[in-house]
Amino acid sequence: MQTINRLDTLRSALEKLAAEGPVALVPTMGALHSGHLTLVRAARARAAHVVVSIFVNPRQFGAGEDLDAYPRQLAADAALLRAEGVAVLWAPDAATMYPSGYATNISVGGVSDGLCGAARPGHFDGVATVVCKLFNQVRPDIALFGEKDWQQLAVIRRMARDLDLTQPHVDAIIGAPIARAEDGLALSSRNAYLTPQERAQAPTLARAMQAAIAAIHGGAPVAGTLAELEQALLAGGFSAVDYAELRDADTLAPLAERGTGPARLLVAARLGRTRLIDNMAA
Ligand code: PAF
Repeated sequence: MQTINRLDTLRSALEKLAAEGPVALVPTMGALHSGHLTLVRAARARAAHVVVSIFVNPRQFGAGEDLDAYPRQLAADAALLRAEGVAVLWAPDAATMYPSGYATNISVGGVSDGLCGAARPGHFDGVATVVCKLFNQVRPDIALFGEKDWQQLAVIRRMARDLDLTQPHVDAIIGAPIARAEDGLALSSRNAYLTPQERAQAPTLARAMQAAIAAIHGGAPVAGTLAELEQALLAGGFSAVDYAELRDADTLAPLAERGTGPARLLVAARLGRTRLIDNMAA
């Protein structure tokens, strides 16, 4: 595995790899866990070569968020990726990604609004901007993202469609199912912030969501069920619920009632200093 942090070196390495077959990109911010490795394995099954990017993107963190605290462990991450047969670890620094004078922002309307977009203003502009740059830097045939960030995936697909991207084409942007711990907690690099007591409380989120989905499928009114879900989280030790919403799975349009199309329950809630997000088919 080559670890590369210069764009010209990346381009020459990719020229050789692309000549040998399809290239897959797995964009990450590092602090890799088994969910990321599942993505890497899915990428390896689909492409001749896998490129993983690790870049803690300052533009997607708001003032007062955890940019400085975000776990950084490049050497350990590189060892994991080497063992998975990754061809290239693309690890640019901030000056390479956003050189002096950088002035361009990508803002995706509609799907960026509400949910995490409301609690984290500017977050999805930062995500869309860096992912567009990563796509242009690597020019992958396919790209894989975890479904834990369901809204992020919708934003990236919208961007790829709207900007007529071809590498990757929107249809080659693949979402991988959420990797969960045995107790149901969705895997996340931010789970590292949880104290042992909070880690024990955290699975309440997935359990309360499953109960809400069962209630909605059983005919319970959506608004009342979501209010009960919030109460269950607060009773279970969460300090605040940023949102608990039923949305159309594709457009993310709010759903007051469960219709016939695919729906998604999306929740963000705070446990101590950690903000946990999760989503499930509903
Ligand atoms: O999901 C993430 O880790 C990040 O938002 C991403 C897609 C790598 C962009 O920085």
